[in-house]
Amino acid sequence: MSIQRRLALSITLVLLLSLTLGAALTYWHVVAKVRTEMQAALAVGTQTAAKAVDGRDGTDAPARRLRRLVEDFDGDRHIMAVLTAPDGHILAQSTLLQPDEPAPAWFLTMVAGPATRVDLRLAAPFDAVGALRLEADPHNEVAEAWSDVLLTATIMVLFFSMVLALAFWTIRGALQPLRDVLTALSRIGEGDYATRLSPTMYRELQPLRDGFDTMAERLAAMRAQNRDLHEQILNLQEEERAELARDLHDDVAPFLFSVGADAAMIRQYLAAERILEVAPRADAIAESVRHMQKHLKGVLRRLAPETLIDLGLAGAIDNLVAFWRLRRPAITFTMDLTDDPVDPPLDAVAFRVVQESLSNAIRHADPTTIAVCIVQSETMLTIRIEDDGTGFAPGQTPLGFGLASMQERVKAVGGRLAIRDRPEGHGVIIEAALPIRIDRDDTMQGDRASDAKVADFCGRSDAPPL
Ligand SMILES: Nc1ncnc2c1ncn2[C@@H]1O[C@H](COP(=O)(O)OP(=O)(O)OP(=O)(O)O)[C@@H](O)[C@H]1O
Ligand SMILES: [Mg+2]
Repeated sequence: MSIQRRLALSITLVLLLSLTLGAALTYWHVVAKVRTEMQAALAVGTQTAAKAVDGRDGTDAPARRLRRLVEDFDGDRHIMAVLTAPDGHILAQSTLLQPDEPAPAWFLTMVAGPATRVDLRLAAPFDAVGALRLEADPHNEVAEAWSDVLLTATIMVLFFSMVLALAFWTIRGALQPLRDVLTALSRIGEGDYATRLSPTMYRELQPLRDGFDTMAERLAAMRAQNRDLHEQILNLQEEERAELARDLHDDVAPFLFSVGADAAMIRQYLAAERILEVAPRADAIAESVRHMQKHLKGVLRRLAPETLIDLGLAGAIDNLVAFWRLRRPAITFTMDLTDDPVDPPLDAVAFRVVQESLSNAIRHADPTTIAVCIVQSETMLTIRIEDDGTGFAPGQTPLGFGLASMQERVKAVGGRLAIRDRPEGHGVIIEAALPIRIDRDDTMQGDRASDAKVADFCGRSDAPPL
């Protein structure tokens, strides 16, 4: 059921309940009023009649005086006087005032009580003429109440219709922003990040609009960033290719040339039977081949660094650290690496995080120590690299290409990356938490460190995301 219909139904229900309650109260009020009016009219009529026949004004011509008394009641709204002879036949009867707009019979039946009448006791000589009876007639009173009820009912129906119309109009207006949000969300879903919500007149919905617009701006910014990253990757690939071509040209081509030259020399020496000079040329060829092998190994590592992972993550990181130890002997490297095998693709992501963090620390921060810690629990692979270098420059938003691609890689496997300054002194902490898919069949899981142990190894793991 729609919100609109539900609200409309609730309001209608409340209005109908109040209408029913109002009708019941009106009914009791009308019944009581008719009864009171009839009793009051009878009391006044009785008093008037009693006074007329109490004998104070004389007792001559009692029949005429009684008939005049009955005539005095002509045109009364509530009381009808009836004079009956001792044998029971009616001698005289007053006429009631007829209501202009009588109430319907069903209403009369509902609100008029049982007929009320009073038989007056006449003193002599009036009692010889006959008996005088006063009857209360509710027609006029009920007609009056009926016209009041009609007026009240008309006012109530008008009031309720206006309340309902206003409620419908307000609900419709209040739900419009939600419809706008749905339309805008589907446009965002189609990739139209320029979509914005129009200003709303409802203060409560202002934060929704602001939140939506901020989200759309962020999505647009992320798409632009992705585009930039993609471009950078393409440029980088081009540069990498050009550099590889230069390396091959500069470092391999000369050796190939010298191998060719040495081979030609050997042929010449053999033809001239200068056997003793063959060995140094063969040694030179072997030396050139060694150079080329070394160089090609470096090129291959750059082309396909994932092959390093074949050594296992810990082995690959050992190699990486050994590489830097050789070039930066002044830096102390400490390592605390899981011995458990780490499954792809988490091993490659972890390796990339460590590789970029090490090269960043060494290139930008001049540290004296760098600690690398990798711990695997049943659900999480945690990687933490901490250096005691200069740290980020104050106010720096530390997202260059290296850190941005690190973040992308971590996000791609559903992980969290935190980049922050060390709380104690200078330096930077990079921490990545990569969730492990637990649906695989892995007998090693039971041996893995618990999540609590991860915190022990790698210190706090509650770093806020960058
Ligand atoms: N460990 C660190 N200590 C101090 N500053 C750092 C550290 N790591 C990164 N930075 C700062 O953050 C910036 C962004 O790093 P990022 O790796 O994204 O880019 P980069 O290293 O400058 O370039 P790239 O990685 O693309 O070759 C760096 O330029 C540097 O100023
Ligand atoms: Mg970098």
